[in-house]
Amino acid sequence: MNKWADYYTNRAKKENWLARSIFKLQEIDKKINLFSPGIKVLDLGCYPGSWSQYALKRIGKKGAVTGIDLFEPKRLKAENFYFIKADVLILDIEELKSHIGIQDVILSDMAPKTTGNSITDVARSLELSYRALEIASQILKKDGHFVCKVFEGEGFGEFKNAVSCLFKKTKLIRPKSIRKKSREIYIVGLNKK
Ligand SMILES: C[S@@+](CC[C@H](N)C(=O)[O-])C[C@H]1O[C@@H](n2cnc3c(N)ncnc32)[C@H](O)[C@@H]1O
Repeated sequence: MNKWADYYTNRAKKENWLARSIFKLQEIDKKINLFSPGIKVLDLGCYPGSWSQYALKRIGKKGAVTGIDLFEPKRLKAENFYFIKADVLILDIEELKSHIGIQDVILSDMAPKTTGNSITDVARSLELSYRALEIASQILKKDGHFVCKVFEGEGFGEFKNAVSCLFKKTKLIRPKSIRKKSREIYIVGLNKK
């Protein structure tokens, strides 16, 4: 493990977070104040659970977080956390909407299994990002916020434009806890039109 990974992994352990990815969401939240008490949050690609864990803390007991992933975040236990085991690419969005209703915030930290071929990896990641945006277009409330991981590469500009069409304001945030070499970046859509 390199120094970077060591630092964030140790910090996550010390602070009892389920993964070091927490620090990315925390930094984004500090910049734009994503959450408020009592709101409903959908977390796409929630395993092992640190983003949901953080969102639960921020929204309090009266709010609810629904997490979706291919894998169950078994270590995340909270009365107001609901897990759906599903492949986001093929789930029925209408059915999801009828189960969980309209959401206040939608997060996507989904990442495909990497192949080592950067063209394939960027294309697969973009497919997940577009799917997250499609879900947001159907079950995010008006004025709701959207945070989505994307990889800078082929198709990134088009995706950014697609997010801009759905939201009043769009921001790109690259948290400090992302590895220097990584092409990962987060696109934030603020106030859905
Ligand atoms: C980087 S991890 C998310 C970490 C999480 N934000 C946390 O803080 O614990 C990416 C997740 O995306 C999930 N994922 C990838 N493709 C998916 C798909 N098609 N449907 C559902 N989840 C998917 C993976 O299973 C993986 O758990």
